[in-house]
Amino acid sequence: MLAAKVKMVEVGPRDGLQNEPRTVSTKAKIELIDRLGAAGLTAIEVGSFVSPKRVPQMADTAEVVAGISRRNGVRYAALTPNMQGFEAALAAGVNEIAVFAAATEAFSQKNLNCSMAESLDRFRPVCEAAKAADIPVRGYISCVLGCPYEGDVRADAVASLAGALTEMGCYEISLGDTIGVGTVAGVRALITTVSGVVPVNRLAVHFHDTYGQALANIMAALDMGVGVIDSAVGGLGGCPYAEGATGNVASEDVLYMLNGLGLETGVDLEALVAAGRFICNALGRPTASKVSQAFSGKQQA
Ligand code: HMG
Ligand code: MG
Repeated sequence: MLAAKVKMVEVGPRDGLQNEPRTVSTKAKIELIDRLGAAGLTAIEVGSFVSPKRVPQMADTAEVVAGISRRNGVRYAALTPNMQGFEAALAAGVNEIAVFAAATEAFSQKNLNCSMAESLDRFRPVCEAAKAADIPVRGYISCVLGCPYEGDVRADAVASLAGALTEMGCYEISLGDTIGVGTVAGVRALITTVSGVVPVNRLAVHFHDTYGQALANIMAALDMGVGVIDSAVGGLGGCPYAEGATGNVASEDVLYMLNGLGLETGVDLEALVAAGRFICNALGRPTASKVSQAFSGKQQA
């Protein structure tokens, strides 16, 4: 059954830019975030408080947060893998944080430099401190449909991780197909298993489009009652620890599909396309959004 309303979570300024080989100026990041807010997005991930040696593109997140023109009703979120990150996020003044676990030991080691159990031990005090500061915490799980190092991933392993993150205080669990290998059958099986532990109305999906399956996979998730979709404008992105994985599903393409289904998001497609063009121009690369490409074709015709 389709959820009545769908929330789009824009991860472009974080997931979209974290792996970008070119330097993206702080000013361009700020303008991107302001444009995304003006387009009607109410959940925008603006950066990460992680090791600048590991992810140099996110080193200016505090400056980015300081520079944005905050809009009422918009939550500006950032990734925080440990207390050091949480404290920096709190000082910067984000409205929401996210912790990020992995469904396999190998990916946990590469991405977080610790085991899955150790990562949960690091997240627990972060969740407690966030609760005390009244900051909502989102929980990500990477590699839910396949791991670049371990291959197949068991849905019940994802479900128990989702349960642990929920228990420690995450209000929502975002299921990440980090390397974009999942297909509709896998998505259905995953959501069936995970929703046995965490209710479907607390699940989000986060699909990278490496194999071109993301929109189909999102539709499968929507059909099962998932109402929160992560995406990145322009289809930007990739994880520095998942070599070869391409960008997130493009926000413009997701919105076009949701509009076609008559689902309310509050996001304006033309403004979103313009935001995508802005950042792609700043990066000097073509958009990966099919909808944005189609819009360009129309304007030239
Ligand atoms: P560590 O090496 O285990 O930490 O890093 P440590 O405590 O031993 O510290 C080592 C150094 O890192 C020290 O600096 C710390 O100060 C620094 P040094 O003394 O060497 O100069 N450090 C930090 N600096 C700033 N902020 C912090 C912080 N913590 C330690 N919070 C850590 C652990 C997780 C920080 C590190 O491994 C790291 O930064 N990893 C990168 C994680 C990352 O950002 N990955 C990409 C995002 S996840 C993703 O893309 C997937 C997702 O999109 C969903 C999906 O698609 O599946 C969410
Ligand atoms: Mg991602």
